[in-house]
Amino acid sequence: MKLLSIESSCDETSSAVLEFNRDQVKVLSLATFSQAKIHRQYGGVVPEVAARNHCLNILPVIEKVVGRTDIEKIKAIAVTNRPGLMTSLMVGLETAKVLSYAWNKPLIAVNHLEGHIYAGMMNAEEDKKNEILHAPLQKNIFPAVCLIISGGHTELILMKAHGKYQLIGRTRDDASGECFDKCAKILGLPYPGGPAISCLAKAGNSDKHDLPRPLLSSPNFDFSFSGLKTAVLYLHRDLKEKAQISQTQLQNLCASIEQAIVDVLISKTLKAIEKFKPKSLIISGGVAANQRLRFQFQKAVKIGSDPSLQNLSLYLCPLSLCGDNAVMIGLAGYMHWLKNDFVSWKDVRAYPSEKLGLKIKS
Ligand code: KG4
Ligand code: ZN
Repeated sequence: MKLLSIESSCDETSSAVLEFNRDQVKVLSLATFSQAKIHRQYGGVVPEVAARNHCLNILPVIEKVVGRTDIEKIKAIAVTNRPGLMTSLMVGLETAKVLSYAWNKPLIAVNHLEGHIYAGMMNAEEDKKNEILHAPLQKNIFPAVCLIISGGHTELILMKAHGKYQLIGRTRDDASGECFDKCAKILGLPYPGGPAISCLAKAGNSDKHDLPRPLLSSPNFDFSFSGLKTAVLYLHRDLKEKAQISQTQLQNLCASIEQAIVDVLISKTLKAIEKFKPKSLIISGGVAANQRLRFQFQKAVKIGSDPSLQNLSLYLCPLSLCGDNAVMIGLAGYMHWLKNDFVSWKDVRAYPSEKLGLKIKS
């Protein structure tokens, strides 16, 4: 079955056509217009500017992926309707509603975070040449602990079955990606800050600065990154007062920031694994593209001494699907399709701050 998907919750306008055949998914076409360069001049995403650019790009992006596909063969349209920037979400959603009405196709509303989780489950390594992803939709990978790390979210979610989520913990202030972005801004690096910090961190020494690891030993699964950002602000100011910051100092700062964020994410996730004893760990979202994080998570899961790690399967999101894209919305959308979970264009709405699952008491 073929499915058209649309994503516009933040600053990426993206659409894809996917073909599903049991556990195999083929990405027939994908087009993403990233607004990163546009928002760089403001040092972050400006919602009004994002929505205007979605308006300009949504139809060209959809036209590109639909191309000469026979519209008859598209069985449904999946679109992100929550959470995200309200006006950005509305551009994608209203477009999907019009197409659903005009083409008479069922409409599927997808939670953006659910999209990140489903992207995280994919195993793109197996058949890169033919761009076939392997979706473990038939395989029992549950219960799974999911770590979603992006510019807007840092959440630990317990997933007991397809579409069944419970919130274990979340950030109390900034998201991990937001922390990368804000620290980069302090250091005078361009937006988005994650890739910029990561690039400089490669040549840096993470032991040079002892940055805080907020809530590291708190008895719950919540995160906090605003204190780390403030510590970077003061440290950078102090270093600058002494002398001009050298390239080596900048590299060391970047490595220390990256390591502090990775330490907190790994420590809390391992704690959740100890408690919930899942079969799988799924890591996804823009920050999951971070190489230090990927390497250290693989290592931690392999050599950790807790028995709950022995049979744990690690699903690290394929690099191509870490950042926002419409493939992930199509993947989650297909799961809703299998459950006949559709919405009507007449009453579906966008919700800017909807959560994924209710919080478990910890
Ligand atoms: O998932 P995403 O594309 O958008 C949201 O849903 O927010 O994530 C974007 C975030 C940005 O904060 C960006 O700085 C961060 O992901 N990011 C990274 C890396 N690549 C992107 N953070 C750390 N290391 C990276 N390599
Ligand atoms: Zn995202």
